[in-house]
Amino acid sequence: MCGIIGFVGKEQAAPILLDGLRRLEYRGYDSAGIAVCGEDGLRVKKARGRLQVLSDLTHAGADLPGVLGIGHTRWATHGEPNDVNAHPHVSQSGKIAVVHNGIIENYAELKGQLIAKGYTFRSETDTEVVAQLLDYYYADCQDFFEAMTRVLNAVEGAYALGIVCADYPDRMIAARKDAPLLLGYSENGSFIASDVTALIRHTRDIAYMDDGEMAVLSAGGIRVYDRLMRPVEKEHHHIDWDVDAAEKGGYDHFMLKEILEQPEAIRKATAARIQEGRVVLSDLAMTEEEIRSIGKIYIIACGSSYHVGMVGKYNLERMLRRTVEVCLASEFRYSDPIVGEGDLVIVISQSGETLDTMAALREAKKRGARILSIVNVVGSSIARESDDVLYTWAGPEIAVATTKAYSTQMAVLNLVGLYFGDIMGTVSYETYTAMVRDMQQLPEKMEKVLKDTEAIHALAKECADKEDVFFIGRNLDYALSLEGSLKLKEISYIHSEAYASGELKHGTISLIEDGTLVIALSTYEPLFDKAMSNVVEVQARGAKVLALTTEKHAADLAQRVPMVLSVPEVQQMLLPQLGVLPLQLLAYYIALERGCDIDKPRNLAKSVTVE
Ligand code: M6R
Repeated sequence: MCGIIGFVGKEQAAPILLDGLRRLEYRGYDSAGIAVCGEDGLRVKKARGRLQVLSDLTHAGADLPGVLGIGHTRWATHGEPNDVNAHPHVSQSGKIAVVHNGIIENYAELKGQLIAKGYTFRSETDTEVVAQLLDYYYADCQDFFEAMTRVLNAVEGAYALGIVCADYPDRMIAARKDAPLLLGYSENGSFIASDVTALIRHTRDIAYMDDGEMAVLSAGGIRVYDRLMRPVEKEHHHIDWDVDAAEKGGYDHFMLKEILEQPEAIRKATAARIQEGRVVLSDLAMTEEEIRSIGKIYIIACGSSYHVGMVGKYNLERMLRRTVEVCLASEFRYSDPIVGEGDLVIVISQSGETLDTMAALREAKKRGARILSIVNVVGSSIARESDDVLYTWAGPEIAVATTKAYSTQMAVLNLVGLYFGDIMGTVSYETYTAMVRDMQQLPEKMEKVLKDTEAIHALAKECADKEDVFFIGRNLDYALSLEGSLKLKEISYIHSEAYASGELKHGTISLIEDGTLVIALSTYEPLFDKAMSNVVEVQARGAKVLALTTEKHAADLAQRVPMVLSVPEVQQMLLPQLGVLPLQLLAYYIALERGCDIDKPRNLAKSVTVE
């Protein structure tokens, strides 16, 4: 999704902006631009394509002197990706430049009104209306800040805005509603950014803007105002992320680095939460009484986070004996959901900024449900609007395809199941102790699976020419197949479907023909024999099968199918924690063989902050 960086301070802005944009590249973009206010007024450079084009165009920023500037990476929503539609957008007077994340919903109406007043629009974007409207109000009242408040009252929709005006070469304006924006404080100056990764080279002292707030930034500091223009004291947060964690550290791709970081991420997510054999969730505010009185449980999320919810449904129902409904946030929000007081809504999100997930959270909250979120990005919008937050502590995840966030979300959800199950008295002593023991051993078992990347690479070479791949499985293997299939399609562009094996006969099996690749997940012991029947069925129709199973069955399966991957034995509810690793690596190596842009797959963005 689009990225924003802005700086005003004691150094030349352009190189800082380009560096910040480079760190935001992982969010996905199709064009980039910067605007700098210098002695000779406002100068804007924009270019379609990779950031390098913009950097070359400005000689790494050297061509744009000035200590105040804004930058943007755009992921097209309104209007095709081209130089004109790229941000910043400049007003008709040439004085005002705007970068924007989000969507101005009433832009067409406002644009019509401005055209009637003589304004000419250059781009097809909704954002340009902000620049032109500000220009119009500024010309009318001659007070830039007054004009800005009028604009914020007029526009509807979601926005994170960074704005500069040639008449104020030492000031930047920022505003936020329903799109993330944070403020950075340093001795060298003041920053805005759409996420922390853009700033950690310059400052670790940040504050999150809240909806309805406007900020005025200068080299000496930042003043923040609420909707009624009353000053607001912002709480500062210290970011302790390792700079290296946001860098590739010698790996060819962030995705590979993040796959291999998973054992350590799981250690971080679980170690402090398991003390003397017991799960301790001291970061939860819920009382034992409140936990015991939970009625129905909903898990709401999008994409891979939703797939974690699918695993969670099987495991939480087993541990809590409560109905767990897993909902796609984009469906839940418009479904007039039957949710209310006494219900627990577990919201899962890596970024904490996914718009549909946020909207679903608000819908559930409005109806009286209690919200517990599982989030990676500290201080993100979803975290802040939840009643309880459990952070996954996975560190920055840069590759668009999630890996370590998925794994840590699953681990935290399992901890929730154990903690609640213990309090509710619904999880047996044997299950509890086996789960706790195996969760503590997970990192080592994960390391073991991740050691043999070359074997998986070799299999990937055999599969890389396929154009259709089916993932099948039952129960937890089905939940896992959804994620395996998504990983493969999003980075390798191979068409892939995930099916509950029992559903094959109800239609899909007609697609199986000679050579069709079927990835048969067969880790779930209670249904192993059933999984084998499905393998036989698809093989009889010509499928080439790659089976994923546990070490116990590996040798036997090697006699039955041409390709086998295996994971160590573990408590059955934890099998997806191990099973996902070979599937992530398989997708990675297939994408590598096909020469795909692994960290930034086409058409995708890391954080989906539009509907
Ligand atoms: O940040 P979130 O967890 O809310 O993001 C949800 C999905 O957009 C995300 O999981 C997406 O499906 C991933 N790119 C999949 O790898």
